[in-house]
Amino acid sequence: MTTRNECLALDERDPLAALRAEFVLNDAEIYLDGNSLGPVTRGTQRRVREVVDREWGEGLVRSWNAAGWIDAPLALGDRLAPMIGARDGEVLVADTLTFLLAKIIGGALELRPERHVVITDEVNFHSDLYIVAAMAQLAGRGIIVKTIDRSTLGDHLGDDVALVMLTHVDFRTGEMLDMAQITADVHAAGALMLWDFAHSTGAVPLDVIGADVDFAAGCGYKYLNGGPGAPAFMYVAARWHGVLRNPLPGWLGHARPFDFEPLYESAAGMRAYVTSSPSVIALGALEGALEVFERTTMAAVRAKSLALTDLFIALVEEALPGDFEVVTPRDHVRRASQVALRHEHGYGIVQALIERGVIGDFRAPDICRFGFTPLYLRYVDVYDAVTILVDVMTTSAYLDERYAVRLAVT
Ligand SMILES: Cc1ncc(COP(=O)(O)O)c(C=O)c1O
Repeated sequence: MTTRNECLALDERDPLAALRAEFVLNDAEIYLDGNSLGPVTRGTQRRVREVVDREWGEGLVRSWNAAGWIDAPLALGDRLAPMIGARDGEVLVADTLTFLLAKIIGGALELRPERHVVITDEVNFHSDLYIVAAMAQLAGRGIIVKTIDRSTLGDHLGDDVALVMLTHVDFRTGEMLDMAQITADVHAAGALMLWDFAHSTGAVPLDVIGADVDFAAGCGYKYLNGGPGAPAFMYVAARWHGVLRNPLPGWLGHARPFDFEPLYESAAGMRAYVTSSPSVIALGALEGALEVFERTTMAAVRAKSLALTDLFIALVEEALPGDFEVVTPRDHVRRASQVALRHEHGYGIVQALIERGVIGDFRAPDICRFGFTPLYLRYVDVYDAVTILVDVMTTSAYLDERYAVRLAVT
């Protein structure tokens, strides 16, 4: 079994160790929930202060031009593009994820007018399921949404399939899907592919161009650390620019917004998918958070992420054999950056851990979820978190009657 001293030695040699200082963290706590809400970075603090005090405070309305606010959704998209393997001009930062999925689904259904089926995963995130059903209905031409067991996708890829929408990393189990293979299969059936990167961006290296992805979208508040309710991003492959229509047009996606024309004419490129005024302070928060990623590579992040999740799984299994079912795949190729442990008292276990300074979360019905974020987590944090988990399990602290009633956010 790996010892605490061995973990400290791993931290000494960790090439990412210096980046921890870029985050605002409480050293008395171990934060294993960066897969849900990333912590504040010093870059975010600096950039938000600058936006509020200087650009807004002093520049006022002039900052739409002088500080480049009007172009910020595209400029930030270009900064994010390398993290998903996209090119400049293919990523837009705007809205929140469900809204961006709506825009892409609505537009994509128009590109296959002779096809009537949309396929998604029966265990997809519920917001994805709601919005795909709503957009299919709004299309008004009898589109059926098939929610399937994703392992049977091949059986469903008939010539009536217009669009396949999958989440690249399962939010409960942390299983990562084979993006390139699935996209190729979907294309072979003549359908379009939309990936939800909520649990992928900033967690694993992504290559949308290599995988020939049509469309993707992800959120800014998880591994990207952009803050609660941070703007999301969308990717539209250049081949679809000028072809994929924005079904929710607004003035700032118009070719000439300040001509105030009564009829809509779409702007070119990714600007076409802008609807409303950008949330400038929130964009500043996300922009500041991206600085830390620019000091490393996603390959380095990935290597440490796998080492941290390997260590956590090994320590849990050695110290608590049989207590949990590890539902996250062991196979590195299928594992993202979280570990999910199944237990019938999962909610109480997570609450007892939080009271002891180990912050994870719970996903119904029985999953304790722990995110491993290599930019600020240390190997010794993994060791100490497992020590506290062992205490919670051996004392049955999770059975405390206070945990019988669940909080609104679990
Ligand atoms: C996989 C997935 N899709 C969609 C969403 C919804 O994101 P938003 O609240 O930005 O619409 C989430 C939120 O956690 C998510 O995990």
